[in-house]
Amino acid sequence: MAYEFLLYQKQEGVGTVTFHRPKELNALNRRSLEELESVLEEARVDDQVRVLILTGSGEKAFVAGADINELAQQRPLGGRDTALYGQSVFRRLETLGKPSIAAINGYALGGGCELALACSIRLASRAAKLGQPEVRLGIMPGYGGSQRLTRLCGPGVANEMCLTGEMITAEEALRIGLVNHVYEPGELLAAAGAMAKKIAANAPIAVRFAAEAIGRSGDLTLDEGLALEATLFSLCCASEDMREGTQAFLEKRAARFQGK
Ligand code: COA
Repeated sequence: MAYEFLLYQKQEGVGTVTFHRPKELNALNRRSLEELESVLEEARVDDQVRVLILTGSGEKAFVAGADINELAQQRPLGGRDTALYGQSVFRRLETLGKPSIAAINGYALGGGCELALACSIRLASRAAKLGQPEVRLGIMPGYGGSQRLTRLCGPGVANEMCLTGEMITAEEALRIGLVNHVYEPGELLAAAGAMAKKIAANAPIAVRFAAEAIGRSGDLTLDEGLALEATLFSLCCASEDMREGTQAFLEKRAARFQGK
């Protein structure tokens, strides 16, 4: 399928989604959210795609937030619908069953930071700037930022970022655990690709269940989370890939995982 505001490429098990609205610094309008929803469904059912990378077109921006032209027209009910729709698309990304890596190549502001937060892993260029500047526009995070940033980095960090609206550097994002690694701008995509390929080489069912257990951990007590882990672990033990992975180790050869 052809997209207007996204580029989508597949290579060696890795699907790369590039937000492409260069004149608006890749800001997310309704159409780009709809396209993201479609591309996620395309990737979800595609056995050739094991991991997604999300990045922004050009050198300046990952995604500079929700489209402020559209936001400026919002009234209460429309605003609620917009927030719920964006949240649902990001939730779909988060629970896709395939891991996602945000390759934050520039500004990740508002909805852009929230998009990165909905990914499994965040990598940043040294030139990236991250922030939740909504309060400067008279609004607040609406695509999950108040919830995911708090869970990832704690309420102190979430309050500081969401209440001051200040942008932070990639180095600061690294220090507070908002991104996992920082790279030189020219090395970011290769690093994201290398990480994605490592994940794609592992057993798909095991990767999926490990991510699911991690994803649900915040909503569960420790005992509930451990019970879920044991159940998913037992399901891995029922997979052909578990036989293959353990056998390949014992036979000192590379495993050939089938996702079964
Ligand atoms: N929605 C719509 N358009 C946006 C946008 C957004 N979120 N962010 C940037 N743009 C547009 C600008 O309006 C400008 O368009 P123009 O060339 O037609 O005037 C273009 O992208 C370039 O942005 P500009 O502001 O000129 O670049 P800059 O280098 O001076 O500043 C930013 C870059 C990212 C700091 C600045 O654009 C900005 O603060 N954007 C808004 C970020 C934001 O508040 N996001 C959260 C929204 S909820």
